[in-house]
Amino acid sequence: MKKDNPFTLTFGKQPNEYISRYENTEMIMSTFEAENPVSQAYLIEGIRGSGKTVLMTAIANQLKKDKEWIVIDLNSTQDLITDLAMRLMDACKMLSEHLPQGINVSFAGFGIGVNGKVNEKDSVSLIEEALASVKKHNKKVLITIDEVLHDDNMRHFASQFQIFLRKEYPVYLLMTGLYENIYAIQNDPALTFLLRTPKIKLEPLSIHQITKQYAEIFQIEHAQANMLAKTTRGYAFAFQALGLLYYEHHEEMDLDRIMSKLDDMLDDFVYKKIWTSLSRQDKEVVLAVKGERTNVSDICKELNMASAVFSKYRDRLIKKGILTSPERGCVSLTLPRFEVIARNY
Ligand SMILES: Nc1ncnc2c1ncn2[C@@H]1O[C@H](COP(=O)(O)OP(=O)(O)OP(=O)(O)O)[C@@H](O)[C@H]1O
Ligand SMILES: [Mg+2]
Repeated sequence: MKKDNPFTLTFGKQPNEYISRYENTEMIMSTFEAENPVSQAYLIEGIRGSGKTVLMTAIANQLKKDKEWIVIDLNSTQDLITDLAMRLMDACKMLSEHLPQGINVSFAGFGIGVNGKVNEKDSVSLIEEALASVKKHNKKVLITIDEVLHDDNMRHFASQFQIFLRKEYPVYLLMTGLYENIYAIQNDPALTFLLRTPKIKLEPLSIHQITKQYAEIFQIEHAQANMLAKTTRGYAFAFQALGLLYYEHHEEMDLDRIMSKLDDMLDDFVYKKIWTSLSRQDKEVVLAVKGERTNVSDICKELNMASAVFSKYRDRLIKKGILTSPERGCVSLTLPRFEVIARNY
């Protein structure tokens, strides 16, 4: 690979070639920075490879620059409460170093003895003490959780977070997840606050921005750049993968070969995983969608499916980010080249 290729296939890290999601970023930032925030939590929902982690990281990084914020990234596969307690303690220790002598006394309650061991105080009261101190120092805590799962760990954490909110601690929560997991946690009767948590469903990246970026990096005509941009359908991973391949090979390969390599990457990095997460019926519906706009009536005829039944599958596939309905009575696949690749599964 050419050394200076500016594109990346790495998931979860803010890429060098970054297409801004101005609207989403603004919405979350302005809510969290408001004097009286309408919400202290946000959910970012989207299909694999759509850029959830990158958006969350971009916002966290932006807030990190502001001394007012303490950002804590939690791992959804670890015990969330214990993890939060440990990290908050760490953050507060750092905080105390920058504070005048004497204030340290207020951290005594964290129970970090000389030997660095945590005393018997349970995690929740450690967290509360830390949050009280954070509040006193006019700081705010942003907790991020990537890829939320609907399990006891999350249930426990979310109900505890609800209590922190009720006690008016300056805590904020940013989470990402797949549609099915977010659906499950939002519809858990024990977690009503999550039902009210605003959700951002990731839309495709701006074709306009992608065109500009490709034209500039590859030094190509607008029309050619726009054709490449449209091929990605604004799918974040495809923007990187096609960029990477075009950068690398456009001098010696024709576009067909580049596209065939793109298919391999889409298949390998994401589509295989997406495909296995679909039910048999979902798969049949996907395979019946041909080309940009497929008439719903044609699909129903092919699958021998009543239109009311089809609507159920269509709605769920739209929510999962696999289908779109560009106009009444027809559907298209959201992901680029999915129809070509899925045919081989
Ligand atoms: N705004 C963006 N601009 C340019 N590239 C992006 C953007 N967001 C994401 N990407 C690229 O898309 C790919 C997937 O991004 P990311 O890891 O955020 O996806 P994800 O939705 O978290 O996927 P998963 O569900 O598998 O965790 C990465 O290669 C990343 O560099
Ligand atoms: Mg991710």
